[in-house]
Amino acid sequence: MTAKRTSIHGQWSSRWAFILAATGSAVGLGNIWRFPYLAGENGGGAFVLVYLVCVVLVGIPIMMAEILLGRRGRQSPINTMDSLAAEEGLSRHWHLLGWMGVVAGFIILSYYSVIAGWTLAYIFRTGAGAFVDADAAFSKQMFTELISDPERLLAWHTIFIVMSVVIVSRGVKSGLERAVKFLMPALLILLLVMVGYAMSTERFMDGITYLFVPDFEQLADKNFFADILLPALGQAFFSLSIGMGAIMIYGSYLSQKSSITFNCFSIAIADTSVALLAGVAIFPIVFTYGLEPAGGPGLIFITLPIAFGQMPFGTFFGTLFFILLLFAAWTSSISLLEPAVTWLVENRNMSRVKATTIAGVIAWLLGLVTVLSFNHWAFSFSFAGVIKENGLFDIFDILTSNILLPIGGLLVAIFAAWLMSRSSTVDELGLGDSTAYQAWRFAVRYVAPFGVIVIFLNAIGVFKLLGFVE
Ligand code: PFF
Repeated sequence: MTAKRTSIHGQWSSRWAFILAATGSAVGLGNIWRFPYLAGENGGGAFVLVYLVCVVLVGIPIMMAEILLGRRGRQSPINTMDSLAAEEGLSRHWHLLGWMGVVAGFIILSYYSVIAGWTLAYIFRTGAGAFVDADAAFSKQMFTELISDPERLLAWHTIFIVMSVVIVSRGVKSGLERAVKFLMPALLILLLVMVGYAMSTERFMDGITYLFVPDFEQLADKNFFADILLPALGQAFFSLSIGMGAIMIYGSYLSQKSSITFNCFSIAIADTSVALLAGVAIFPIVFTYGLEPAGGPGLIFITLPIAFGQMPFGTFFGTLFFILLLFAAWTSSISLLEPAVTWLVENRNMSRVKATTIAGVIAWLLGLVTVLSFNHWAFSFSFAGVIKENGLFDIFDILTSNILLPIGGLLVAIFAAWLMSRSSTVDELGLGDSTAYQAWRFAVRYVAPFGVIVIFLNAIGVFKLLGFVE
């Protein structure tokens, strides 16, 4: 057994601090904004079912592997992979996995920040009572006006990047714990209020059926691998913050005593519950007000304000909801910056403030692409059987969630379960050679990698070319 490292960036103050911070990273726009609109675009119940299977069979095992690598390496993901590869007698090229994560992190943050900017805008709109008695047409119009104005989008995007830079430059550990401790329960309560409203709408049961009962007939003209499995897999990676080093760097601050297994299950359960609750709150509104489930990235910004406009104390609940959503996005964006910032501190000897500022400027500049994707540069194309209307934003989103994160996760699984010595992983997971350990090892060794590979090959049509499938 090699000597245990310590991180130069410090450690979480307690086991709960890690769970809270990692949940803060996982729960964000991915759960409340992205999950419902993808479910609506990709067939409702079938997508949700496949998503849940991906979380359990691929997501959780890979999350455990990623945290394990982080805690063993105790540095930025790039240097962690470099050290662990050296320790196991493997090629130093493994640090490219860390680099891929840094690139993915910048791209995700660049558009994440623009969407978080919409949330900021909606705090003020809802707070000003703009949605009182709003109908679907009005809500749609408000949203379209916002996204067609690049200057406004740019202003909100800039504010959000600055907010993220300020927190990360101070070190992510102080403050995050306290913020998440209050935020998560509050967000959960507000989602329950929203679900309460959804229950009072005429078409509540239609929303529930749409979300939880797979309609396989509707899938007849879809390619199951490319149109359902690939986006569901991508969403599992995106939502759990895995495959790009975010959870790895959080793992690097984790105390040696803390149970990786318990932590991962807690995080995944919290993350999945928030996504499902968001779906339950949104789809009944979609059906009751005659909106399109496949409404795209604007879905929650169009549906929820209608609910706030109708329900008692809607202005209060609505404003609070968007504030909490903003916090949730904030605690996620922090983890998107952290891998790059720690690398700059470790390898370029920079202060945290300078490193974070540089990283923030890169993400800000890249975000201009997304700002323009909704107006001047908008173009449409078809992906997974869905017409995507926001050109480069959609390409950034597909490239990261459906390609870079799964490849990152695949490499993490291969490293942890095929290349690292069994004794290192037994030592790190602390489960001994129990059934739980063996189940984990089986999942990361076989299920997760083959799942990702088979989905990829099918999605790019390789099996078809080779004549394996019709
Ligand atoms: N998991 C976050 C969300 O669901 O909003 C987004 C995210 C954070 C993705 C960190 C990836 C990541 F590394």
